[in-house]
Amino acid sequence: MKKAMVTGGAGFLGSHLCDLLLAKGFEVICVDNLITGSEQNIAHIKTDKFTFIKHDVTKPLYLEDNIDFLFQLASPASPIDYLELPIQTLKVGALGTHNMLGIAKEHGARFLLASTSEVYGDPLVNPQSEEYWGNVNPIGPRGVYDEAKRFAEAITMAYHRYHEVDTRVVRIFNTYGPRMRLNDGRVVPNFIKQALGGEDLTVYGDGSQTRSFCYVRDEIDGIYRLMMSDYSHPVNIGNPEEHTILEFAEIIIRITGSSSRISFKDLPVDDPRQRKPDITKARKLLGWEPKVSLEQGLKETIKYFKDVLEP
Ligand SMILES: NC(=O)c1ccc[n+]([C@@H]2O[C@H](COP(=O)([O-])OP(=O)(O)OC[C@H]3O[C@@H](n4cnc5c(N)ncnc54)[C@H](O)[C@@H]3O)[C@@H](O)[C@H]2O)c1
Repeated sequence: MKKAMVTGGAGFLGSHLCDLLLAKGFEVICVDNLITGSEQNIAHIKTDKFTFIKHDVTKPLYLEDNIDFLFQLASPASPIDYLELPIQTLKVGALGTHNMLGIAKEHGARFLLASTSEVYGDPLVNPQSEEYWGNVNPIGPRGVYDEAKRFAEAITMAYHRYHEVDTRVVRIFNTYGPRMRLNDGRVVPNFIKQALGGEDLTVYGDGSQTRSFCYVRDEIDGIYRLMMSDYSHPVNIGNPEEHTILEFAEIIIRITGSSSRISFKDLPVDDPRQRKPDITKARKLLGWEPKVSLEQGLKETIKYFKDVLEP
């Protein structure tokens, strides 16, 4: 039986990844310090093939068992979190990734880094392909996350080139779905919470900035396929279907049948205008593309949030 370790495994994406790996017959070790995650996300897992270790990956970790795959997902991910935890965010991207690469090297394990579309910053080209180097403000408030991930990519490639660690880098674009936190500040839970509560939906700026949203099941499938591929350069995994933030608010109001209206606030500093992945590489190399429609994904997510709000 193959063994996989998932750091950040008690988070939104990590917990879905643990579910998929267990379903595929892996033994799974989940490592998380719960800084933004929750044991609630893994409470449903009842098998002796699953181990949870509460640990901060910026500190050294000694594993008794050998592992075959290491997924490095640990990092605050929502802007609210990394603006509140700037040093922890830089440390987990830098020291955490370094420590985990050390474990992968020692175990001869394949290593996957969860990177982000934020490495493209406020992009000057649209859509963004993996060849684009990005437009990041290193000293802006968001720089702590963007630059941590850029460093993490650089050290991952260095371990690949100089220590011959078998590495993968996934650039994740906005993903949504069940187990996001209601108050994590990201646009989907925000809008759904507001719509279900009958409050105004808050749009920052004039709402003409675009985002593309990928449903979590598709995202995790793409991450898994990349890990199992033989491609060691970064690959975008996201949904290229673009919507303006305003359109998005309107769709959520329609699906929830809410009587909420839309209100406008100032745009935060360095908020990217446009985000849209070019997924040509994922299509070609992994045979992957998103399958879940926005309507379907939102329905599943809204159901989850309804259950959380009215258990
Ligand atoms: N969700 C998205 O849309 C998205 C987009 C791009 C990239 N990503 C990346 O995917 C990964 C997972 O994101 P998510 O949305 O699930 O966020 P999340 O906050 O739900 O999960 C991150 C997990 O990492 C854990 N963690 C943070 N620092 C740690 C540390 N030092 N040691 C151990 N555990 C630590 C947290 O407790 C949490 O459980 C992150 O690396 C994030 O940067 C996510």
